[in-house]
Amino acid sequence: RPRVLSGIQPTSGSFHLGNYLGAVRQWVALQDSHDAFYMVVDLHAITVPQDPKELRAATRLAVAQLLAAGLDPERCTLFVQSHVPEHAQLGWVMNCLTGFGEASRMTQFKDKSAKQGTAGTSVGLFTYPILQIADILLYQADQVPVGEDQRQHVELTRDIAERFNTRFGETFTVPAPYILKETGKIYDLQDPSIKMSKSASSPKGLVNLLDDPKVSAKKIRSAVTDTETVIRFDPEHKPGVSNLLSILSTLTGTKIGELEQGYEGKGYGALKTDLAEVVSEWAAPFRARTQDFLDDTETLDAILAKGAEKARAVAAETLAQAYDKVGFLPAK
Ligand code: TYM
Repeated sequence: RPRVLSGIQPTSGSFHLGNYLGAVRQWVALQDSHDAFYMVVDLHAITVPQDPKELRAATRLAVAQLLAAGLDPERCTLFVQSHVPEHAQLGWVMNCLTGFGEASRMTQFKDKSAKQGTAGTSVGLFTYPILQIADILLYQADQVPVGEDQRQHVELTRDIAERFNTRFGETFTVPAPYILKETGKIYDLQDPSIKMSKSASSPKGLVNLLDDPKVSAKKIRSAVTDTETVIRFDPEHKPGVSNLLSILSTLTGTKIGELEQGYEGKGYGALKTDLAEVVSEWAAPFRARTQDFLDDTETLDAILAKGAEKARAVAAETLAQAYDKVGFLPAK
């Protein structure tokens, strides 16, 4: 079975609709066809300042949400990044293989560091994509299910994997991004020219999965559309309406063309009302399940212990190979 690996940051508290539709939904689907490794990336989270207590709570909350979304520890390996020290260990080697210029071209770093200023930007934020390379290569992943905003990081991973293999001999699987066209980029409800994101979206533009479903429904009903009246999928000219259609299509499993037909002669209000209902009906049980997993810390931590053990078995083997290839003297 081909292998997939992906990760999500624990920083945000609630996942948002972009995280779910762009990534987590695919993680759930891929469990059956792939050998799947999924993790909560707490090492990545500390590239910006974190309160220790909050980070710990956010890590468990992220795991609870992944379980509530449908990850099944019997069918995938679910773990916390810091429980597998090999990530940091291989990360160092990857740091030494990546060019400063190459890392400087990462758009996510440029955006985030521009916002924080040089003084507020850690070196960790700069090398963030390089740790991500280690995350992926440690598991010899064939595919990496992510949203469009992670494509550049996966491309860099490919480059560095090829570089390592050329320099030291065949060691790593060169991974491919797994990004769905329909949901790879979910847009902000208030500004459909930008992606939905915790940091950039206004509160009204962002649908948090753990919010009161009534609040989310209201945000959807007041989503920005355009001055036409026709419900048509046309991301370039009608980004707001197209975003709503993409979300509705994915959550209901109805083709966009069918939705367009169904809404012929109807106004934007009808589309928004329907989507608001679909999202709140999805979110209510998701919230309840998340709370259930969160209430049972013992079970949750046991899942993570087992996940870390399974992950380490794979990661340790790859790390040993890589260290050997690089020329490190084995410890006796
Ligand atoms: P993170 O935590 O920012 O986001 C988690 C996943 O959600 C996707 N995503 C979106 N997809 C569609 N539309 C949106 N508006 C949207 N917003 C977020 C992201 O693309 C991502 O797939 N660097 C990663 C975490 C990471 C990782 C890895 C991923 C660390 N190591 C190894 C894959 C493999 C990140 O910050 O994701």
